[in-house]
Amino acid sequence: MIVLGIESSCDDTAAAVVENGRVVLSSVVSSQDRIHARYGGVVPELASRSHIEAIVPVVEEALARAAASLDDIHGIAVTQGPGLVGSLLIGLSFAKGLSYVKGLPLVGVNHIESHPYAAFLAEKGEDREVPSFPFVSLIVSGGHTTLMYFEDYTKYKILGQTLDDSAGEAFDKVAKLLGLGYPGGAVIDALAKEGSSQAITFPRPLLGKGNLDFSFSGLKTAVLTHVRSLGGPPSEAHLKDIAASFQEAVVDALVTKGLWACRDAGVRDLVVAGGVASNSRFRSRLTEMASKEGLKLFIPAPKYCTDNAAMVASLGTRLLENGSFAGLELNALPTWEGF
Ligand code: KG4
Ligand code: ZN
Repeated sequence: MIVLGIESSCDDTAAAVVENGRVVLSSVVSSQDRIHARYGGVVPELASRSHIEAIVPVVEEALARAAASLDDIHGIAVTQGPGLVGSLLIGLSFAKGLSYVKGLPLVGVNHIESHPYAAFLAEKGEDREVPSFPFVSLIVSGGHTTLMYFEDYTKYKILGQTLDDSAGEAFDKVAKLLGLGYPGGAVIDALAKEGSSQAITFPRPLLGKGNLDFSFSGLKTAVLTHVRSLGGPPSEAHLKDIAASFQEAVVDALVTKGLWACRDAGVRDLVVAGGVASNSRFRSRLTEMASKEGLKLFIPAPKYCTDNAAMVASLGTRLLENGSFAGLELNALPTWEGF
């Protein structure tokens, strides 16, 4: 089954062609980072306008790179939410139009639930081990920090989530207060490589032993308080230490809770996904922890950690196989509670 995936939940317009929920024939992502950078965050109205401009060329490019036409496509999977409603509606309306005109089955996909499906993706000809059910997934993105237990492709429960800021948001807000621009995750990642993670002891937001929820706003405030206590802008060397020490505190909380969740659920396979899963320190700490604890770790390639449509097509394929079809009344669901 060849499925066209479409993603427009936030500030990336993406389309992908995926075979059997697994082999990526193409994956195209048009980022709006440049548009939003000067505002220090995503401006919803600008995001939806950019999606309108990008959606046709991005889908055309995905089909071209897959050497496919719409006649080769068996179904369309589109992100239904959660996300910015104006952004979601562009992808959804486009997908519904295509589905109607070409008579193709359509399915709406939960963006957060789709992130771990990146671990099932492989390039053409690539032989890659995939997670076995049941597995625990730690989804760490700009919008969400969520621990989930997947019993099967479409059966899951939420084990824990952030009570305030997501980990990605903490990276972005700390980068902003350090004057590093938006989005800040990758910049902090790079700076931290040259700093000391032991230089400043920031709080580890664990919320008590065994608790699987997250909280990052206190950590962000601790960084702000530290910067203010300096009485002036930090030196270049100290900036690197702040970045490394902050990053270590976030990574500590994420790695600890990922391990707690696997132990609690009695599972061996841990799938880590979402934009923050492209963080180099996080990846190496996870790898260390998994080998010490005997866990099997699955982290998608960085390009499938950040928002993309291949993960949407992958989950969409499973939903279509399960007979889950949407009609033209399919509407955007901006919050998870709407699902
Ligand atoms: O999954 P994603 O692309 O979009 C959402 O669904 O939110 O995640 C974006 C988030 C941003 O907060 C960005 O700063 C963060 O992922 N991010 C990183 C890195 N690359 C992206 N955070 C830490 N280290 C990175 N290397
Ligand atoms: Zn995402």
